[in-house]
Amino acid sequence: MELNRRTVIAGAAAAGIAATTLGGTAHATGGRKPVKTLFGKLADGTKIYSWSLENGGTRLKVLSYGGIVQSLEIPDRRGRYANVSAGFDTIEDYVAKSPYFGALIGRYGNRIGKGKFTLDGKNYQLSVNDGEQSLHGGAQGFDKRVWDIEPFTKGSDVGLYLYYTSVDGEMGYPGTLKTKVTYTLTKHGDWRIDYEATTDKATVVNLTSHVYWNLAGEGSGTIEDHELHIAASRYTPTDSGLIPTGELTKVAGTPFDFRKAKPIGRDIRVSHPQLVTAKGFDHNWVLDKGITARPEHVATLRDPASGRTMKIATNEPGLQFYSGNFLDGTLTGPSGRTYRQGDALCLETQHFPDSPNKPSFPSTVLRPGQTYRTTTVHTFGC
Ligand code: GLA
Repeated sequence: MELNRRTVIAGAAAAGIAATTLGGTAHATGGRKPVKTLFGKLADGTKIYSWSLENGGTRLKVLSYGGIVQSLEIPDRRGRYANVSAGFDTIEDYVAKSPYFGALIGRYGNRIGKGKFTLDGKNYQLSVNDGEQSLHGGAQGFDKRVWDIEPFTKGSDVGLYLYYTSVDGEMGYPGTLKTKVTYTLTKHGDWRIDYEATTDKATVVNLTSHVYWNLAGEGSGTIEDHELHIAASRYTPTDSGLIPTGELTKVAGTPFDFRKAKPIGRDIRVSHPQLVTAKGFDHNWVLDKGITARPEHVATLRDPASGRTMKIATNEPGLQFYSGNFLDGTLTGPSGRTYRQGDALCLETQHFPDSPNKPSFPSTVLRPGQTYRTTTVHTFGC
């Protein structure tokens, strides 16, 4: 958490308010052990738990189903907390109708054309679940799996280790993939995600997180007033099935230019063929920094009304900005309000969609003996 964090705590002390009313006891002590409660049960009786974490003024709730961020609360410039991620308050809703709200995505974030690819001369057919395409790992992706969760406190960090092993052939993917995702809340209130995976056969991997952000608070209406900056001079245009054509197109002079922060609503109704096809923004930006050894800052989201900001740093080469185009008012969030088109947005750090079929894109192949490792850090401020 940047800037105001200290002011908030100092303000509370001055006013004689216990820090717990603002950010819990965590920021004073450097974090306490995550707490586990029963969230619900799957149809087969499997218990799904909710883990609550708090540190540096950020409060996070994570489900053992899909590694879902069920709630992420941060303060505004006056210290008032809001849950800034869209979701549900029952497991039944997540199972029955979630458009990947808050979930971990695997094995492959975004689309693989026709669910087909060839690796080392072998053809693979994946689960197809989005028209002709395979989306977000197929019909039963990592977002619909039960993860083993272990809490930790390390120095001033608190967090969760999430484990899931995807068996050879699951959703059509080769190799047994052992996945470990670490969610960390730092003493500054940053939410860091470390992804790791190993395989016993050559395969493809592209893990990401599908939180739907609304920095004004979930259920509060459109994100069109949010200002977004993306450090990318190019993006990957798509065909009508939202599969990249393979071109890297310059954003200059197009609605896709977020190199200077601008309100999301400013150009979203421009009748640009790419916006018409996707019903808004639903594209992969080619981050100027490319693949980096360490996470580097690539995007900033800001809600001018509340003052809440979120910065994203990653070592990944791509960022999918999805402006919530398919939300249509049929889903109701924990606030009791419905989600309509553009009421939340996703910023998914990733390798490019359909890379297994695009030899010119950075490779998503993982081989036995290698470890897949990527990191994304969300820094909140106001
Ligand atoms: C991703 C995709 C979108 C959409 C959402 C889920 O962000 O890019 O096209 O499928 O997931 O609804």
